[in-house]
Amino acid sequence: GDVAARTLAIVTAMKGTEGPLLPILHEIQAEFGFVPQDCLPVIARELNLSRAEVHGVVTFYHDFRDHPTGRHVLKLCRAEACQSMGADAVAARVKALLGIDFHQTTLDGAVTLEPVYCLGLCSCAPSAMLDGEVHGRLDAAAAAELVREARR
Ligand code: FES
Repeated sequence: GDVAARTLAIVTAMKGTEGPLLPILHEIQAEFGFVPQDCLPVIARELNLSRAEVHGVVTFYHDFRDHPTGRHVLKLCRAEACQSMGADAVAARVKALLGIDFHQTTLDGAVTLEPVYCLGLCSCAPSAMLDGEVHGRLDAAAAAELVREARR
C-alpha cells in the first residue's frame, strides 16, 4: 500500500549511500512520524537484510519509535547537570502521573514520554521540553503542572 510505496521511494533514493540503514530509518521516521511495521519487509528486501535484522536495529536505537507518538511529546532531560539537580525524582513523579515509562504513550494517545540528553538548559536544571517548548527548574509541582498541560 501507501506505506510500502513511500518506503520504497526513500530506500531507492538512499540505498547507494554508505551504511544506508540508519539514515533510511531516520528518513522514514521523519516521513511517517514513526517506523511502521510495513516498512520493514521493504527495507529488508532492498538492502538484502533479514526482516529480523532490520527490526533489531529499530528496537535497539531508542530514537526510533514503532508506533505513532501521542498528541503531545514530553521530553525529560536525563543528562548529568539535570541528574544532579533531581531529575530522577522529577522523572519518577511524571511517570507515576502518566502511568507510563520512557518511550511509551498514554493509552488515550495524549502524551508520549521520551528521555533527552541535555537541552542546553543546564543552568536551569532539571529541565524538560513539551512539544518543543523548554521548561526549566522543575520540581514536583512544576512537573505535575507540565503533565496537566500535556494532557489537555
Ligand atoms: Fe539537562 Fe543540560 S543536562 S539541560
